[in-house]
Amino acid sequence: MVDEVKPLERKEGLVKRFFNPKPGDEMMTKRQFFENLADEWEQKHATPQEEENLQAVIQHFPLAPGQVVLDIGCGTGRLIPHLLPQLGPEGWLVEADFSFQMLSLGRTRSASDQVLFLQSDAQALGLQDNLFDLIICLALFPHLDHKLAALLEFHRLLRPDGMLVIAHSLGRERLNKLHAQKSAVIRHDLLPAEAEMKQLLTRAGFKEIIIIDTPEMYVVKAVAVATEAQKDIWV
Ligand SMILES: C[S@@+](CC[C@H](N)C(=O)[O-])C[C@H]1O[C@@H](n2cnc3c(N)ncnc32)[C@H](O)[C@@H]1O
Repeated sequence: MVDEVKPLERKEGLVKRFFNPKPGDEMMTKRQFFENLADEWEQKHATPQEEENLQAVIQHFPLAPGQVVLDIGCGTGRLIPHLLPQLGPEGWLVEADFSFQMLSLGRTRSASDQVLFLQSDAQALGLQDNLFDLIICLALFPHLDHKLAALLEFHRLLRPDGMLVIAHSLGRERLNKLHAQKSAVIRHDLLPAEAEMKQLLTRAGFKEIIIIDTPEMYVVKAVAVATEAQKDIWV
């Protein structure tokens, strides 16, 4: 017989899982890992080669003036100087990450009041629906423990026909091999195979899925299909 889970216990489980990670929880451990990584990450990417790799990936971002953009898992904000000029005076950029140290370094990159910094878990951002024209996940997706939950959250946050971009400046095979050699905390943080990625995105409400996977680059683009409720409000 399956034990009945009382509604209150379910609620407590949810609140604990999403809003109150404790030391020793898998999420806290991963967050701690990234807190400790911030300075090293910043230094590692301050080279002309890394900048060139980044430029190659950014070519695929469908940026336009006036957009409201979420850079989720923004790290030390290395995308800010590339994104902000393209958004023009009417655009907004939300830089979100669960690591305080990463965000603190990011803050030093821009004093613009068009850039907002948010400390939050990508899987439950607590922002209003339909807010963003574009969501960018640069070097984040493998680290998400609940990928479908995250994609559902991104879909909720995108306006109808808004776009999600998942990007890495390394192909899937090379990236997964690299992660497999890292600390136990992120060793199992892998990019799903193409069929699984497409299935996850489709289940979360995305369409027009494009996957580019070369040794030098991994880019997924997907458009958020409007739900019936969104159509009532927006169309
Ligand atoms: C590999 S770094 C990439 C940082 C940045 N996007 C870049 O490319 O420079 C991954 C980032 O995602 C953040 N991160 C990982 N899991 C997260 C989660 N569940 N919610 C929010 N941020 C997360 C980490 O703190 C870290 O800053």
